[in-house]
Amino acid sequence: METSTNTVDIQKAATSKIENTDFNNLAFGQVFTDHMMICDYKDGAWQTPKIRPYGPLEMDPSAKVFHYGQAVFEGMKAFKDEKDQIWLFRPEDNFDRINKSSERLAIPAFPKEHFFAGMEELLKLEKDWIKKGFGNSLYIRPFVIATEAGVSAAPAKEYKFMIICSPAQAYYSGEVRVQFSEKYSRAADGGVGFAKAAGNYAAQFYPTNLAKEEGFQQIIWTDASSHDYLEEAGTMNIFFRIGDKLITAPTNDRILDGITRKSIISLAKEFNIDLEVRRVSVKEIVDAAKNGELKEIFGSGTATVVNPIVGFGHGGEKYDLPKLEDSYAGFFKDKLTKIQYNQAEDKFNWRYLVK
Ligand SMILES: Cc1ncc(COP(=O)(O)O)c(C=O)c1O
Repeated sequence: METSTNTVDIQKAATSKIENTDFNNLAFGQVFTDHMMICDYKDGAWQTPKIRPYGPLEMDPSAKVFHYGQAVFEGMKAFKDEKDQIWLFRPEDNFDRINKSSERLAIPAFPKEHFFAGMEELLKLEKDWIKKGFGNSLYIRPFVIATEAGVSAAPAKEYKFMIICSPAQAYYSGEVRVQFSEKYSRAADGGVGFAKAAGNYAAQFYPTNLAKEEGFQQIIWTDASSHDYLEEAGTMNIFFRIGDKLITAPTNDRILDGITRKSIISLAKEFNIDLEVRRVSVKEIVDAAKNGELKEIFGSGTATVVNPIVGFGHGGEKYDLPKLEDSYAGFFKDKLTKIQYNQAEDKFNWRYLVK
């Protein structure tokens, strides 16, 4: 099905925007690098990946992505170590996941050699955009959109697989308070919750705006049928610490199989932290908050790595979490970032060197 392997057709940008970029004042996902990767699907095959100067796309207004939301994406990061080597973190998992998402949205699978060849060539061109030092990284956004013209409600016959990159600093989202969802749902059984489908995110904006009006930054989604079980946040999986026990929900077809979540589970096992992967009920967490046993809630995801949560709301009540010196959130963030920046042993073979 492929027209070629391991070849990328590269056209470099005539000028770079890097000199005009203030790397000390980067808002997340606002500035993009000089190039982008594009690979077209047509006549039943993915064509040769191309790298082109970053810029707008021209598309037919009837392209199916605009009407039926046939679109999936990924989020990854590249890190630079003290020797100027560029590292990715578990990129094969992102590759597998984008194809899992694509399959659910009836989008053809993308070839692995195109994914890695295209991304690595792009990262080599953009290497100066990746700054050294903890917290600095290059956020990588692969995505696929249905480009075929025509508003008939059927899977497209033409697509674009693209990668764009945005320099990122340590992500600090301020104090995060979450609301446990009691009315709206993010995903349902048999739906697309496990996929990084663009529409999953659009559907969260309205309920999240309502939660913001009540003083919460994010929602923790609960199961769609009873709203009794806590599942995940908008772009993070969620961990709860009751006493010294860590608990997180199992993944299923409503929950994204987060790479940071999986990594925390492996680290918890390595460091003998008591961890249970099981359904977490709202009642259990509210009771633990009331009797003082709830020590932490934190989110895990590529953008923030680990994001501590300072409080939550449910049933019209607000609950605050204690401030801890020796939090699990801090422990896992330290372990993960040291592996990502090539400052600690990589026992699990998670790092991937861009050569
Ligand atoms: C819905 C959702 N859950 C969880 C995550 C965390 O996944 P990962 O750790 O792979 O970034 C993300 C972000 O990718 C997400 O969009």
